[in-house]
Amino acid sequence: MAVSSGLQVLLVTPTGRDAKLIGTVLNLADVQSEALEDVASAIEVFQTRDVGALLVAEEALEHKEIALLGSALVEQPAWSALPVLVLTMGGKATVQSKRQERKQLSLGNTTLLERPIRAATLVSTVKAALQTRNRQYQGRMTEAALRQSEKLAIVGRLAASLAHEINNPLEAVTNLLYLLDGTPLNSIQQEYLDIAQQELARVSEIASNTLTFNRQRDVRGQASISVLLDSVLLLYHGRLAGSKTLVEHRYRNAAPLACYPGELRQVFANLVSNAFDATRGGGRILVRERAATHPRTGQHGVRITVADTGDGMSAEVKSHLFEAFQSTKGLSGSGLGLWISKGIIDKHSGYIQFRSSTKSGISGTVFSLFIPRND
Ligand SMILES: Nc1ncnc2c1ncn2[C@@H]1O[C@H](COP(=O)(O)OP(=O)(O)O)[C@@H](O)[C@H]1O
Ligand SMILES: [Mg+2]
Repeated sequence: MAVSSGLQVLLVTPTGRDAKLIGTVLNLADVQSEALEDVASAIEVFQTRDVGALLVAEEALEHKEIALLGSALVEQPAWSALPVLVLTMGGKATVQSKRQERKQLSLGNTTLLERPIRAATLVSTVKAALQTRNRQYQGRMTEAALRQSEKLAIVGRLAASLAHEINNPLEAVTNLLYLLDGTPLNSIQQEYLDIAQQELARVSEIASNTLTFNRQRDVRGQASISVLLDSVLLLYHGRLAGSKTLVEHRYRNAAPLACYPGELRQVFANLVSNAFDATRGGGRILVRERAATHPRTGQHGVRITVADTGDGMSAEVKSHLFEAFQSTKGLSGSGLGLWISKGIIDKHSGYIQFRSSTKSGISGTVFSLFIPRND
């Protein structure tokens, strides 16, 4: 979120001439403004985009508008206090306008400007308001950054204690599998055991990486994306076989590329498990891989898509999708999968995109990844 420079002032003055005049005066002072029909449309604007201040004529503030504006201002987030400048009737203070003034004062960050107002006064008041507003937007950024780093600290602590807790049982299982490896097994059993040992090795690696504060990196190496995808699908084979979800894959077997295979596997595993979660009631998952070029830079690489015919995502979920702890799965979800995935894809200088629809009949989600070749 960038701090908005050149914030606009919203003008609500019922007599068109007023708006034009004020607009011109502000324009001469390099302040942008937009004239709006009424208070309701101004509220709609400041609730949907960054706005510097609201300048409203008293005539536009009837009972209904004051109530509307009042509740809109109360609903502002903690960092926000939109400056409201009210142009009062001046001179002929009627009983009604007195009463209105009192109410307007309860609107929060309100300044009353008595008419006739001098251009210089108007400009300096508006500019002061814009400055205040700019500081508020800066506050918003800091707040967002703080929240994010708080989250990160919590994740770090959580991960470390989790890694610590699972270390002992992990060692036990590792030893047991090792003992099993020394006994006579048929080829299928041996194959399963090999996979189990590989997976376990990965878990141990993740746990110890986490304990040493995750600074260690997965080893970089050449890997074939389709092989990685296959190993993920194999991992979910049991879960998928007993479900109503059908999984298909189409690989064009792009040449291996330099990457962090363990981390990419983690990304693919999360995408497949999300797709699986979304198709609980039955559906299809299609995993594809092919050589591709970056649409903008023309760089060569591999494109991977994981598509499902599941429930899709609401607009709310979509708008926070790659943030930590965003989950709709209650206790069974951590909301960390996509957040971590995004980090891993960034580390590969790739990108991850998605499309999703909740329309019945055509609902579903497609995640599309691009990993560039960096060899
Ligand atoms: N394929 C998908 N279909 C529908 N919703 C999805 C899909 N992938 C992700 N989501 C939504 O994004 C949220 C975050 O996903 P993720 O970061 O993997 O965390 P988690 O799976 O632990 O909830 C999920 O809770 C879900 O609401
Ligand atoms: Mg997930």
